[in-house]
Amino acid sequence: MGLLHYFQFAVACAFGLWYSLWIILHLVLSFMKGPITFVKDFFKKRDVMPSCLNDPGLGSHEFVHLKEVRLHYVANGNKKKPLMLLVHGFPEFWYSWRYQLREFRKQYRVVAIDQRGYGDSDKPSGVKNYSTEKLTGDIKQLISALGYSRCVLVGHDWGGAVACHFAMCNPEMVEKLIILNCPHPAIFASYMRKNLEQFRKSWYMMFFQVPVLPEIAFWANDFKLLESILLGEKGGVQSQETTAADIEAYKYCFSSKGSVTNPLNYYRAAFRYPLDKKNIRLIEKPTMIIWGCPDVALNQELAPLAGKLVPDLTIKYIEDASHWIQQDRPNEVNKFIWEFLNQ
Ligand SMILES: *[C@@H]1O[C@H](CO)[C@@H](O)[C@H](O)[C@H]1NC(C)=O
Repeated sequence: MGLLHYFQFAVACAFGLWYSLWIILHLVLSFMKGPITFVKDFFKKRDVMPSCLNDPGLGSHEFVHLKEVRLHYVANGNKKKPLMLLVHGFPEFWYSWRYQLREFRKQYRVVAIDQRGYGDSDKPSGVKNYSTEKLTGDIKQLISALGYSRCVLVGHDWGGAVACHFAMCNPEMVEKLIILNCPHPAIFASYMRKNLEQFRKSWYMMFFQVPVLPEIAFWANDFKLLESILLGEKGGVQSQETTAADIEAYKYCFSSKGSVTNPLNYYRAAFRYPLDKKNIRLIEKPTMIIWGCPDVALNQELAPLAGKLVPDLTIKYIEDASHWIQQDRPNEVNKFIWEFLNQ
């Protein structure tokens, strides 16, 4: 690790502490409004799986044992069809792909995973277990374990970063790459250093470097933060495609043990263990980025910037879709994906 990296990590932690003061203030105010409810919410149990997670129309629930972890996934479509692998982001899980699991089963074996640390997949302890190399390694082992040598790889948010990294390291295993609202991981850090607007938008990444407090912020008020991230007026899903029942499914998923800490560890690992330079190379495979423009966390300019490392790049914008694009605008996203696959 270079000096720049240590400096960057120190700056992130310093800002993280500063943002923590605001979050603590917020939590204290919320506690004072209703101390009993506030405390009770921390002990609220969700034991019954919401029925939408067991909808057979979405596919069947399966598990696969990899070298380090057992991953859970939902699969739809014929096993003889080519593989389409769907990798979710933060703070989400396989269910983010519900519209794609139904749509692409017609021509693909569609597999939506819970990445390690999420949902019903194993949640190894410690930050180091969530480095991009580890996450990418899971994808590689998974494709083989499913009996395939290559796939159409689709990633959103953190899943997009993992997918890009995977495509750099294992191009022969990627037929086509589709990235939804995610910057290329090899350009993001340097972009954030130079762009004040993006730096501000990334405040939460710095806050996540702080131990425990981000977890408490998520648990507080019955996962109100999760709800406002996904459905809130500012930045949440803009269409009617995500309902209160869907959000309940998210809350159920993030209620089990370790279900908040380990997803946060993705951000902690990213700041501590930067990408290995030897893995950074051009992605030569046909790639499409679909970008919901008013993303409150990511500057739109990040989409074309990926072109520096991805020569065969198509970009599709959806002007008024949120960051949660595949569940906000499933019809448009699915149409773009079909067009790209049929080219
Ligand atoms: C990674 O996870 C495994 C399994 O939970 C654990 O034994 C190991 O100590 C973890 N590694 C680190 C560096 O925390």
